Amino acid sequence: MTFETDIFAQFDKKWALLTAGAPDDFNMMTISWGSMGTLWGRPVVTVYVRTGRHTFPYMEKGDTFTVSFYPEEQRKCLAVLGTMSGREMDKMHDSGLTPVEADGCVTFDEAQTTLVCKKLFSQLLPKERIPEQIVEECYSDDAEHVMFIGEVTRIIR
Ligand SMILES: Cc1cc2nc3c(=O)[nH]c(=O)nc-3n(C[C@H](O)[C@H](O)[C@H](O)COP(=O)(O)O)c2cc1C
Repeated sequence: MTFETDIFAQFDKKWALLTAGAPDDFNMMTISWGSMGTLWGRPVVTVYVRTGRHTFPYMEKGDTFTVSFYPEEQRKCLAVLGTMSGREMDKMHDSGLTPVEADGCVTFDEAQTTLVCKKLFSQLLPKERIPEQIVEECYSDDAEHVMFIGEVTRIIR
């Protein structure tokens, strides 16, 4: 299982879709914060989801999630999925993407690469432990993040 990438650009510049739930009930949102590496002897992906996101309860409830990356032509679609909530639009049916089942969760036919992840750990990032300047920048008018660490169990290309 290999994935060669420019890790600092992969999330920040290319963005990704985080999808959680099952094929009959899922939600996805655009993310640009994330990391990849090794933990507990396993290949892992870490993502950060604000507690107010519609995707958040799906992440809390499910055992798997996917992180998928797209060609530049899907940028507009990712921008929509990163500004509209699943509370305002039917992301399951109206995203323009083609859902594909992935080990009990969902990814999309248009993805270049999908990391299928088994949830290992989640933890609220408490503001008290974050540098003051970052708290001002990121949390003055928005909810805190929960960090989700997933073991990468499969890479779909
Ligand atoms: C480029 C980009 C990156 C984003 N990265 C994150 C992120 O890492 N974590 C997060 O909680 N929200 C992030 N967002 C915001 C969510 O994608 C956005 O609030 C989305 O509408 C949430 O959808 P939902 O309510 O259906 O879950 C990002 C948005 C954009 C446009």
